[in-house]
Amino acid sequence: MTGFFRQGPALVCDGVPLADLATAHGTPLYVYSGATIRSRYRAIDQAFADYPHAIHYALKANSTLAIARLLRSLGSNADANSGGEIDVALRAGFIPPQIVFTGVGKTSAELAQAIDLGVRSINAESAGEIERIDAIARERQTRVDIALRVNPDIDARSHPHISTGLKTNKFGIALSEVRELCAHVRAMRGVSVVGLHSHVGSQITDLEPLRRAAAALVQLAREMRAQGTVIEYLDLGGGLGVSYDGSRVPDATEYANALLPVVRETGLSIILEPGRQIVAPAGVLLTRVIDMKQQPGGKLFAIMDAGMTDLIRPMLYDAFHRIEPVSRSSAPEVACDIVGPLCESSDTLGKDRLVPQPAVDELYAVLDTGAYGSVMASNYNRRLMPAEVMIENGCATVIKRRQTIDELLALEA
Ligand code: LLP
Repeated sequence: MTGFFRQGPALVCDGVPLADLATAHGTPLYVYSGATIRSRYRAIDQAFADYPHAIHYALKANSTLAIARLLRSLGSNADANSGGEIDVALRAGFIPPQIVFTGVGKTSAELAQAIDLGVRSINAESAGEIERIDAIARERQTRVDIALRVNPDIDARSHPHISTGLKTNKFGIALSEVRELCAHVRAMRGVSVVGLHSHVGSQITDLEPLRRAAAALVQLAREMRAQGTVIEYLDLGGGLGVSYDGSRVPDATEYANALLPVVRETGLSIILEPGRQIVAPAGVLLTRVIDMKQQPGGKLFAIMDAGMTDLIRPMLYDAFHRIEPVSRSSAPEVACDIVGPLCESSDTLGKDRLVPQPAVDELYAVLDTGAYGSVMASNYNRRLMPAEVMIENGCATVIKRRQTIDELLALEA
């Protein structure tokens, strides 16, 4: 058995007790299951096996180098969202033709970096960006392949903060403007439109918006061919959700079964940019109880040593993550808010949770935090970035050491 499960009362990762890892490496601590990353990557790859496809893992979900390297070793390509993520991809061993560059605001310096490297494609977000790409390319007497990120005005039915495909969102080129823009781009000497891209949101658990977005790209590709622009591939983005609360959500096979019938007749190869789907269930955040507090006439609080600086999702999106004692306890259950130590009332990991009466120093695991956990960590309150450990074949490796206060202050005069 791999991943996170109980051996007797103890929660383990790929067979290694989480309590031992917390003792050895301290808390807050991110722990990842290498085996889970492998199996979740392969599940997507196999689901699309009978159709030409390339998986470009979305580095934004978790770009700790060891995780990026592991995915590369499995055959993944990369989706980078900034110059920094391009650098991470290169250091993780991806070569430029394996990288697509996305992002709603790419600076000219970042575009030049991507062009000089020769990344596979730049997913262009606006007419202005295409003009900048064209100018940079012409200056270098080269021609750059781009994909148009289309905003199909489709509601992903996810949290508003992580929905990106509506015309009220800042992302992409409105479907109604793409055709005219394309005619304009055909006259440019520095760019060639070779792909169409869409990403309508994240944590999508209803396949219909993803299917409709793919259908919109297929239709557009057809019209563009008639206009004289030959599209080589469709980039269907990421966005497939995971189950944070144990409820049933579509798996990789259902995802493929929703998308492939839409694209198959085009024969166009596809790019997928999954992030969360691969890494979310592959990580937990370990944290200890610092203090227990019963406010008179109010709530019971378990104050933990991890908070919004380590995991901001609950506070930012009201996101739900299961939180469990690492060692199963027989204490009577109580309702409490599991909160962080920061000076913010919204610094919460879980509200109104029923847990066995927590005790000071007790170790808890916040589950499914492998995606958008460590990457969104901050130094607010001068808190230090947590350490990260990966389990591979029963061995724990520190893949990111805990930041020190000297390292934090090294940038300052
Ligand atoms: N491609 C593009 C262009 C994206 O913007 C994203 C995510 C992905 C792929 C990967 O999406 P995924 O497969 O992971 O859903 N911080 C938020 C999630 C933000 C997602 C941003 N874009 C959270 O914690 O829920």
